[in-house]
Amino acid sequence: MIFADTANKIFHLRNRHVSLVLRVQPDGNGEQELLLPYLGSPLDDPASCLYLCAPRGGASFDSPRQTLPYACPTDGRGDYRPALVCAEDRHGQRCTELFYTGYRVEKGKPTLKGLPAAYVEDDAEADTLLITLRDGLTGLEAELRYTLYADRPVITESILYRNTGSETLTLRNAGSACVTLPGRYDFIHLHGAWAKERAVERVSPARLTREISSCRGASGHEHNPFAALAASDATEFAGECLGAALVYSGDFAITADENAYGSTRLTLGLNPRSFSWRLNPGEVFQAPEVIFSFSDKGLNGMSQAMHSLIRQRVCRGTWRDRERPILINNWEATYFNFDHDKIMKIAQAAADAGIELFVLDDGWFGKRNNDDCSLGDWVVNREKLPHGLDGLGQDINALGLKFGLWFEPEMISPDSDLYRAHPDWCLHAGSRRRTTARQQLILDMGRTDVQDYVIEAISAVLRSAPIGYVKWDMNRNFLEAGSDALTDGRQGETAHRYMLGLYRVLEAITRAFPEVLFESCSGGGGRFDAGMLHYMPQTWTSDDTDAVARLSIQYGTSLCYPTSAMGAHVSAVPNHQIGRVTGMKMRGDVALGGNFGYELDLSAQTPEDMEEIRRQVKQVKAIRRTTQQGVFTRLLSPFEGNVTAWQFADETRVILCAYRVLNLPNGEPLRVRLHDVPQGLYKAPDGQTVSSSDLERAGVPLLFDHHDFASLVMVFERV
Ligand code: DGJ
Repeated sequence: MIFADTANKIFHLRNRHVSLVLRVQPDGNGEQELLLPYLGSPLDDPASCLYLCAPRGGASFDSPRQTLPYACPTDGRGDYRPALVCAEDRHGQRCTELFYTGYRVEKGKPTLKGLPAAYVEDDAEADTLLITLRDGLTGLEAELRYTLYADRPVITESILYRNTGSETLTLRNAGSACVTLPGRYDFIHLHGAWAKERAVERVSPARLTREISSCRGASGHEHNPFAALAASDATEFAGECLGAALVYSGDFAITADENAYGSTRLTLGLNPRSFSWRLNPGEVFQAPEVIFSFSDKGLNGMSQAMHSLIRQRVCRGTWRDRERPILINNWEATYFNFDHDKIMKIAQAAADAGIELFVLDDGWFGKRNNDDCSLGDWVVNREKLPHGLDGLGQDINALGLKFGLWFEPEMISPDSDLYRAHPDWCLHAGSRRRTTARQQLILDMGRTDVQDYVIEAISAVLRSAPIGYVKWDMNRNFLEAGSDALTDGRQGETAHRYMLGLYRVLEAITRAFPEVLFESCSGGGGRFDAGMLHYMPQTWTSDDTDAVARLSIQYGTSLCYPTSAMGAHVSAVPNHQIGRVTGMKMRGDVALGGNFGYELDLSAQTPEDMEEIRRQVKQVKAIRRTTQQGVFTRLLSPFEGNVTAWQFADETRVILCAYRVLNLPNGEPLRVRLHDVPQGLYKAPDGQTVSSSDLERAGVPLLFDHHDFASLVMVFERV
């Protein structure tokens, strides 16, 4: 519900999980400022938090503004903490002042033009408060939209900027959301690099401004566009935590700031370092959306709220609620070295094992026998595949498998027919050199002609063969990112226009092929974000497929993203990324924590491994509804010890997964307590009946086999 106390100008968004309070108050100069004094557990009376709107600071050096919880802080007004908005006028003046002009409440949730966002299926699912702020001098207006979901601990925020003045403005910063919590909070974020994405980092802002960001043209491997503020005593199971995910896949910045007045501010939005936008009179600019999820029951509660919202109201399409097929991908089995017969051998072995989908990875098009050519030339290579994609797809279908295909649509190789025809279609900075990475350049997705080309080229391939799955890859980041299409001082728009163009392409293609399951990828998990998940319900989590490394990667990813979004494959040993040898069982048990598949030469496995693979496939089919759509709970962290454990639960079963990396001599007995098990009786793997409360209180012994890299998957079926 949204309660608007118009007499006192207090707005209270409240459901049984969360409250958010906004307050309009005079700034001392006759203007009305918008403050956001509270976001947390439900309040009985919003007036109880208004003491947080009283300015503090005594001496003349202390600007009272640096103590207030502004909802939309701007530069140049004495707040000094990270701001959301900076608009420059034609004189280069950047001071921006935004004051309250009005509000309205709408049922449901408005869409964001051209951008991915959380949505409702029925207006009764949510209410939206829209508050307008305006700078009287420049005419810049900011419409802040707060949506409260009726029965979720989730609030979304986005801002629509509008130039209602008579002169062009340049937006130097056009942020999405800001929350200032009283007190000190830990800042949790996910950092990494290629093959080691999304490690959990928890730090105190320690009277500093901390920033995570990307200016890579993708959300990136290094930082993820997700962060949390957690009470310093919060654990996985207790304490206040506020998660925030930006629904965006390009350059972003998230700051956490603690100043001398002891409050902690979080801001999220586009990265001002690689952004500027000319806003002519009458034009609007839509900033991306932020999803907040709140829990007073620890990080698991925060993550679970985020998981179900992303799974059910960010992801879309036919595959959103469907069980995902078990796939075999040929990348690590063959790299570029394959032909029709080799693929059919692997596919035959996959069919024998009960696998459901064959994915043909990089190397099927142009003259691509290595990674130095042909991106952009989406025409089948008949030397490798003499029967074409259609012939191969039909042969694979005849085995009972669906057929899937890899693309890297946003790229262009200098050695390609596309580049020879359109050398101006790549991102480039005027006459500067065009630096390649992985021997490729990036298409200028901000251009409509490029977007149209990509839509048609990919659609033509999808129409030409029985393709039921697409892996959409992106294998390099921006360098010298400029655009020939942008004149008039607009080069600073390149990165965001790229994203808007990409989103237009994704919308067109995914709408045109609703039965196709799309999975995004960027050198593994370099673009794992809620923006991509709006178009494609799953993402390749990491190029690192080692079972031990995957424990941390999948655990970290789960801080924000549901397991239904995480591609997780069993690969060969020694592992191609780090050379480790783990058993087939451990590899399968780890991959079972995401969208399960294989990435090895199935036609060259030992009979024992094939037997184990058949067992895994059968097991995954039996329990995947729970592992993909049940409630996921982290129990033991790979960042803290030798044993990792997590749990899945729904109304039919509870599954405990535990992994011990190294065996210990004369080790202690281990047990793990399950958490929030749906009430009832369960049949344990040994046939005994056990109650939900005993699983929580007495726990389950972890009887690992006597070797390194051991794992257990224990299924407790509801009786
Ligand atoms: C990077 C991806 O992450 C891999 O899985 C594979 O598809 C290669 N690209 C192919 O070039």
